[in-house]
Amino acid sequence: MNRRRFLGAGLASAAAASCGVGPTRSGTAPPPTALVDGGVVALAAVPHLRVERHDPLAGRCRYVADLGSRKVVQPVLVARRGETFDAVIENALPQPTTVHFHGLTLPEAQDGAGFDPIAPGARKRVRFDVKNRSGLYWFHPHPHGFTAEQVYGGLVGLVIVTDDDDAAVDAALGLVAGNRLALAVAEARVVGGAIRPYAPSAEDCLTGWFGNRALVNGALDAERVVAPGWARLQILNACNARGLLLAFRDGDSLVPFSLLGTDGGLLDAPRQVERAFLYTGERVDIAIDLAGRRAVTAVSLEFDPRHHAHAAVPRHHHPARDRYAPLAAATVCESSVRGDQEGRLPDGAELALFAMRVEGRATRDAPPPPPRLSDLPDAAAGSQAATRRMRLDFDEQAGFLIDQTPYRPDEVAFSVSRGMREVWEIRNSPISMPHPMHLHGFGFRVLRRQGTYGAARRFATESGGRFPTDLGVKDTVVLWPNETIWLAVDFALPADAAFRGAQRYMFHCHNLEHEDGMMMRNFAVV
Ligand code: C2O
Ligand code: CU
Ligand code: CU
Repeated sequence: MNRRRFLGAGLASAAAASCGVGPTRSGTAPPPTALVDGGVVALAAVPHLRVERHDPLAGRCRYVADLGSRKVVQPVLVARRGETFDAVIENALPQPTTVHFHGLTLPEAQDGAGFDPIAPGARKRVRFDVKNRSGLYWFHPHPHGFTAEQVYGGLVGLVIVTDDDDAAVDAALGLVAGNRLALAVAEARVVGGAIRPYAPSAEDCLTGWFGNRALVNGALDAERVVAPGWARLQILNACNARGLLLAFRDGDSLVPFSLLGTDGGLLDAPRQVERAFLYTGERVDIAIDLAGRRAVTAVSLEFDPRHHAHAAVPRHHHPARDRYAPLAAATVCESSVRGDQEGRLPDGAELALFAMRVEGRATRDAPPPPPRLSDLPDAAAGSQAATRRMRLDFDEQAGFLIDQTPYRPDEVAFSVSRGMREVWEIRNSPISMPHPMHLHGFGFRVLRRQGTYGAARRFATESGGRFPTDLGVKDTVVLWPNETIWLAVDFALPADAAFRGAQRYMFHCHNLEHEDGMMMRNFAVV
């Protein structure tokens, strides 16, 4: 399809939607577009994506989609399942970068995982078809040793994939235009009104880099105006390291909400909750009934994050870093052990995320949430699935590691035959901290948790000791200290030519300081 015509169609529908024409109908209406500031762009309509640093003092960066007739800063890409991304990525940063599409099933050459970084000043054409279920996915840099700095610098992009199930949910909720939001919640260290550049001390590199203010789609103090009735929110935790205990406050009370979906799309049926853990890299799709309310604030509630590793602080060294300057004039992981703590709000402290102001009059009662959302089957391991065991440990020299092995870009830790089903049994040490573990290329199902204690224990309300946020198709899952978790992974790959031959993927912790700090392994699907 002609790019410009496709985009034109998207814009026309956005204009129509903003007049409040009511719910989208499955099959007839284009994707819901009244979503975001940044600007919604059809994924198939982006010919050129530039990665640039626009504030060298603070090291702030952004994505710019060049559509020919106009440029969109920090675009939110919307695609129907099956559509094609075909764009030239231009790296205008002073460091190598990649664009990794987190959660999408892509061949190695398009995955942007860091095997093939784009040098400063260079370009790369990236082309793929969107194969995944509807849901919120995202893109971010993944060049080893630079990932945390660049993501903190602002390089976070959202991808909304839609399909008929997705549109049916909007219709069933009677969603009005403006009440569907896609939000990337990151954070910044703000001191004296200014965002501090990325300058983690050695200790920050051990625990993760924490800020003190939420950035929602890049903005501090974000507020959205919504209409009464249901609001549907797709939320990404794009923080480098902070876990969020997501809840919605109206005055002193918490507003219950329906969990509709997780990383890889809709659940079979909604779950009613009042709060949900959302670790870095994870997403939730929720519906919240705002009828009769004036203002609701999304917060991360206080919790005990169980950071239990207090040993010597290792120093990470990335040979690649010596050849490139930092994004701002600051050192990374090298300052004294404690470093500058100003603007560092500890993990688990309460943090305001964003506000929703409810305006307008309800025209009718909100319908009940739909009882069925998708035909996703229950999580189950294949009958012949072999078990693969992994351990997450702390090493005094190297920091947090998978199987006591620091990341090596040229290593393939293990190979899996295409089409195989495996159960991954992953064990976190009792003397540790939460690790949000992420698998590239393949959605998985969480089968069971064991050894959960502390703050997390009371959220294990589903069978197998699982949290509601463990349901559905996942690509990132948190392991609390002392936990063992069992995942069902299906290594089926599409039959397209693009997936022919051995494909390398990664498995890593999505605490980005841990990822850059070697808590990552490569594996191959052959
Ligand atoms: Cu979101 Cu390997 O990353
Ligand atoms: Cu990923
Ligand atoms: Cu970790």
